[in-house]
Amino acid sequence: MTVLTRESQREPQRLLPLEKAPAHVAIIMDGNGRWARRRGLPRTAGHRHGTENLRQIIRAAVEFGVRILTIYAFSTENWSRPRREVMLLMRILEMVIDRELQELHDEGVQIRHIGELDGIEKRLARKMAEACAYTRDNNRLILNVAFNYGGRDEIVRAVQRIVEAGIAARDINEATISDYLYTSDLPDPDLIIRTSGEFRLSNFLIWQGAYSEIYTTETYWPDFDRLAFHRALTAYGKRQRRFGKTGEQIEAENRPRDFHENGQG
Ligand code: IPE
Ligand code: IPE
Ligand code: MG
Repeated sequence: MTVLTRESQREPQRLLPLEKAPAHVAIIMDGNGRWARRRGLPRTAGHRHGTENLRQIIRAAVEFGVRILTIYAFSTENWSRPRREVMLLMRILEMVIDRELQELHDEGVQIRHIGELDGIEKRLARKMAEACAYTRDNNRLILNVAFNYGGRDEIVRAVQRIVEAGIAARDINEATISDYLYTSDLPDPDLIIRTSGEFRLSNFLIWQGAYSEIYTTETYWPDFDRLAFHRALTAYGKRQRRFGKTGEQIEAENRPRDFHENGQG
């Protein structure tokens, strides 16, 4: 048995390569408050540690071959929290942009925002827009920040804009709706991860997530590390996505082509 030195503990642990990495992963970063309470700390300490944690997850996403990472940072429902907590969450986001923007840019991360900047404090809204503009040509990872985001609100706004555009009822189909969402040019999430042992979507990507695989873990968000992320992606790789078909159909589709064509499939 090897004894880990402090130095070797800092080396990232070698992990098995993933057979099938999801292109688009969305995360409901939940459990900051409970993480803090368990340590006798204020909820705000949980939010700070949660934010710290995001760094390693963004890096791990690049490492694991994820192309798009959508993170739920603040929901339209989160306005109902105590005013002080809401203010602090806003301040943390602003701090993260100030502190991390250059490094994210250097690492080739393209920052996008989904949700509404209307109603957000001006300075923060400006910083958010600037971060998106500054990183727009990067293509290593798309980091989609769902901030002041609500899935129902997104759909309502899409319908309003479809009506405003004068599109006839008979011309509206699923693709039309998708085209008017914040995520119009992105594929739907393959995998939605929720931390902290909750089993709900909380108004996150309710249209786009119609066929996403869902993975939940008891781990609170500040403790959800690179290894936990890898575990989630490994679990995803073992799932069979059927999209309404039968398992046998999917197996046949995945069989090597020549075998299939010989009529032996
Ligand atoms: C998630 O952690 C962070 C945000 C919603 C901004 P919570 O603050 O919801 O943590 P719990 O659910 O109270 O533990
Ligand atoms: C969802 O978490 C929102 C974010 C992670 C930003 P919540 O903690 O707000 O969700 P509910 O209220 O428990 O469903
Ligand atoms: Mg929560």
